[in-house]
Order: sequence, then C-alpha cells, then structure tokens
Amino acid sequence: MEPKSREFPSAFLWGTATAAHQVEGGNRGSDLWLMEMAKDSLYADPSGDACDHYHRYAEDIALLKGLGFNTYRFSIEWARIEPEEGFFSAAALDHYRRMIATCHALRVIPMVTFHHFTAPLWFSRDGGWENEKSVDRFARYCDRAGRALGDLISCACTINEANIPLMITMMREAVGIGGGDKRERALAEAARLSGGEPGRFSTYLSGDGRASTPNLIAAHRKAYDFLKPMVKGPVGITLSLNDLQAEPGGEALRDAADQMINRQFLEAVRGDDFVGVQTYTRVRFGASGLLPPEGERTQMGYEFYPQALAACIRSAAKVSGCPIIVTENGIGTEDDTRRIAFTKAALDGVLDCIADGIDVRGYIHWSLMDNFEWLEGYRPKFGLVEVDRTTQARKPKPSAYWLGDIANANRL
Ligand code: BGC
Repeated sequence: MEPKSREFPSAFLWGTATAAHQVEGGNRGSDLWLMEMAKDSLYADPSGDACDHYHRYAEDIALLKGLGFNTYRFSIEWARIEPEEGFFSAAALDHYRRMIATCHALRVIPMVTFHHFTAPLWFSRDGGWENEKSVDRFARYCDRAGRALGDLISCACTINEANIPLMITMMREAVGIGGGDKRERALAEAARLSGGEPGRFSTYLSGDGRASTPNLIAAHRKAYDFLKPMVKGPVGITLSLNDLQAEPGGEALRDAADQMINRQFLEAVRGDDFVGVQTYTRVRFGASGLLPPEGERTQMGYEFYPQALAACIRSAAKVSGCPIIVTENGIGTEDDTRRIAFTKAALDGVLDCIADGIDVRGYIHWSLMDNFEWLEGYRPKFGLVEVDRTTQARKPKPSAYWLGDIANANRL
C-alpha cells in the first residue's frame, strides 16, 4: 500500500553518517589499531589510512552538502582526544572544532557521536567497559569534549549502539559469531602487546557484553546529564535494532531476546530528547533458535529486508516514548541498484510511520562513503560515494544523487 503523503515533515534531518575510526585513518592511539595490527588479527584488514577523512573532511562535508543533504552525523575520537588517561589534547579538540565549524559554514547540521566503538588503548587495557570505572572515565571525557565543542554541536549521540556488545555476546553464545576461539587468543595477544595484565584487555565489540551493559547504561545516563546544558540541541543514544520476528513456536525465544537486547535499553532512555534507531535487517526465531536468512542476502550475509526499519521505529517509539531519529540505515552491496531499492522501501516505511503519527525527525543513511567495516575490513560497500583506496578520490554513486535529490525535495 502506498503511504498517504510523499512529503516528509518540515525541518526533517536528511543526512549521511560515518564514524571516526572507519574513515579518518591513522587512529594509532586506539584499542582497535593494536588489535588490527596484531599477528593472527581478527580483522580482515587493518584500518590504516581509511579514507583520510581526518585531512579531507572539508571536501567530504562539501560533497554531501552539494548532493542535497542537510545533516552530517560523525563521531569524535576519544583515543585522539584523551590519548593518555587524564591528558586531553587541545590540538585534537581544536581539530574537531574546525570540523564542526566547517559544517556550520556549509549550512550542514553537525550531529556528533561521542563514542562509536573505539576507545583509547589505556581504557581497554584496563578492562574497557567491563571495568566499572568506565562510567566516570567516559563522563569525564564527555565533560571535557562537551565544554570544548558543545556550543557548536546541534545534536549529540552519547554512545553508538549501546546494546551491540550484549547482542554480539549473545550471538557468540548462540551461533559462534565474532571470532570464536580466535577472539580469546586475539584479546590475550592484545593484553600482552599493550603491556596490560593477562585477561584484562577488553574492547567494545569483542568484550563481555553481559559485564559491560550496566556500565554502558550508567555511562549514557551520566554523559546525558553532563552534555545537556552544554550542547545546543537534542541529546540521545543510538541503538542497533533488528526487527525480531517469530515463526510459530519461536515467540518465547523472540520475546526473551527482545527484552534483553532492545527493551531494557529503550526503557532506560525514557525521557531523553530522542532515540537513534539503527536498522539493517530482520532476525527470525523458530522453536529451537535462530532461523537462517531467507532469499536475497547483502554482503554482510544479512537478509535483504528493508521493511525492518518501520517495524523498529514503531517499537522504539512505543517502548521509549521518545521522538525518533533514524541515525543509521543502509546496505552493504556492490550493486548500487539494490541500495536504491533498499532505501526506497525503507523510506516508504518511514512515511507510513509518520502518517500514523509517530514523531520521526530524520533519516541518516549509513554511510557517506565506502569505509572500514570493522572485522570485515574494506570488502563490504555501504557508501553512497565510492573511494579509490589508492588515490583517495571520491566518486558519488547513482544512489548518492538519487537520495540527495529526495533530501533536497524533502519528498519521496
Ligand atoms: C555501525 C557502523 C557499521 C554499520 C554497518 C552499525 O552497526 O554503527 O559502524 O559500519 O552498522 O555494519
């Protein structure tokens, strides 16, 4: 069924997203740099120079503006800002201040994420998010960065996908994703290389999500309170939300997973300015566990299922009571026509949600450009813009012009 109106609300945020470690290059003070460079690394490629966005941000922001977008979601890198515990780099903060100022100069709304998966090496060497000191450590970093940058920040995300460590831990237990036995060895090697105690090294994505979750929720709450008075706009968290579906007999498993992975987080952010919904696919449960994807798969092995976005917006709005910003949605594919088909169907669902009275304030596509896709390295292509890995030349794909035109017209 066609949605009633093809128009999006006025002041709708139309953006593209990136994350510092995935695009900047040379993030040498971070935990993942060490993990990527270690022998027998879990990572398919090292991030290396990535897209050299650290130096090319101005041309990249101008590019997205020229395509028709009004918002840029990116992250500032804790490992650069606080490379040693308690030492805050004025030079790194100045860099991000110039970057945010460039957004304003180009009339692009800066949406700034304070933590997107990576952390300083010193933090992960000392137990990362599993250590309860993480709560105060993260709040202190947000306080310092907020004081330096907050007056220019139009929208802030504290933690990207605060529920993903728990989701990965549960998936590891259920189906062995995330490195299997190699993961233990990689963490042990990282502990050794970093000069830390054996067994103590823990990263966001490879650590124990059951141990880190209470700290992540507490850290968000504390950072939210610190950032609220400093940021000139809404503050929220983002969550990785899959559309969890049950085949007959799978309802109990689905509901238990939903409570653990989604609802406990959505309940913890009630009253926030917004919740960021990040959706890529659906996950189905049968009576004896997870069911395999059906039909077409993306480069990540996920089912091509763009309808998931509307379902996740609906449940996020219902459980949290918060306004919604779609802070990520996209597809890993070499076939740009499938990116357009996926995004068109996802946006149809957004319009349906808006027609039903749900307060959806923006759609931010993942990603501006092809970049470092964590464990998978540079193989998956999520970008609207292609990046030549040798010359760093940028080339918008047809999907970039297509989505930029929709953004510009505020109409599908
Ligand atoms: C993350 C991004 C990632 C994207 C595609 C999200 O989980 O926030 O960093 O690149 O999904 O897999």
